Amino acid sequence: MFLEMKGITKSFKKFKIKDLSFKMEKGEIVGLVGISGSGKTTIASMLLKLILPDSGSYLINGRNALSIKRKDFSRIVQGIFQNPARALNPRKKVSFLLKEPYLAHGKSPDDLEIKRLLESLSLPKEVLNETPNNLSGGQLQRIAIARALSLRPSFLIADEPTSALDPTVQIQIIDLILKLNRKEKIGIFFISHDLNQVFYLSEKVIVISEGIIMEMGDADEIMKNPHPYTMYLMKGKFSEANREKGKCPFYSICPLAKEICRDSMPELKKTGENHLTRCHLL
Ligand SMILES: Nc1ncnc2c1ncn2[C@@H]1O[C@H](COP(=O)(O)OP(=O)(O)OP(=O)(O)O)[C@@H](O)[C@H]1O
Ligand SMILES: [Mg+2]
Repeated sequence: MFLEMKGITKSFKKFKIKDLSFKMEKGEIVGLVGISGSGKTTIASMLLKLILPDSGSYLINGRNALSIKRKDFSRIVQGIFQNPARALNPRKKVSFLLKEPYLAHGKSPDDLEIKRLLESLSLPKEVLNETPNNLSGGQLQRIAIARALSLRPSFLIADEPTSALDPTVQIQIIDLILKLNRKEKIGIFFISHDLNQVFYLSEKVIVISEGIIMEMGDADEIMKNPHPYTMYLMKGKFSEANREKGKCPFYSICPLAKEICRDSMPELKKTGENHLTRCHLL
């Protein structure tokens, strides 16, 4: 099974996703990294069909994903988000919250199935009698992950799933995602503004700026030979305020920028075996 976006565009009043194309195989971890406002959640929302693209195609196994019925789609693609509490009814006990997705699909999980689910997420069985407001952020994210995985989807879209958590809990959730990927062969689309997390987890990486893919390819190849923009992000500089706009979104902050970078947008071109880079100078 694979998931593919081809030539996707999406315009808001002041923001545009331009010509977004990438492919992801089942069982693969693809990381998406970019600063705040670069369009990460917009891409996640399109992958989850929460918003529709203006143009382009979204395919699952070659089939138009937009024509797949919501119920069938939710068995293929699921999402987890930065604030798990928002998706969990605060008045319901965890025992219900874990059963809810099964019930929505006309299934009734037995206690053993719920027990296995808790174990695979390293949650103690005591949480079953709690409501979300009595649990930690890390526990809530584990419950959100359990709910997303209960229908055994092929792809999990994870939009900054660790950003609201303490650093030690972040590492636990990252390791949990890695474990689930290896055990269940679930494909993970992992979104973060944290390059370290993205490169630690992902086999393939997509780097975006202002809704445009700047670089995409095998994580190892990008690490060895990064785009100047990615190198800039690697140094932990995320501010893009007050800069002169050029056709290359990175024009005014790039240490290598030349006139051509101001005057024309570079194409995304092959710079390695499995590596595409949008830069006039590479
Ligand atoms: N529904 C909407 N209507 C208008 N503009 C929107 C809408 N959703 C997002 N935007 C704008 O699109 C841009 C990209 O937003 P998006 O949430 O995708 O960024 P992001 O990379 O996820 O940022 P962050 O790291 O802060 O989560 C922003 O400028 C945002 O204001
Ligand atoms: Mg976001």
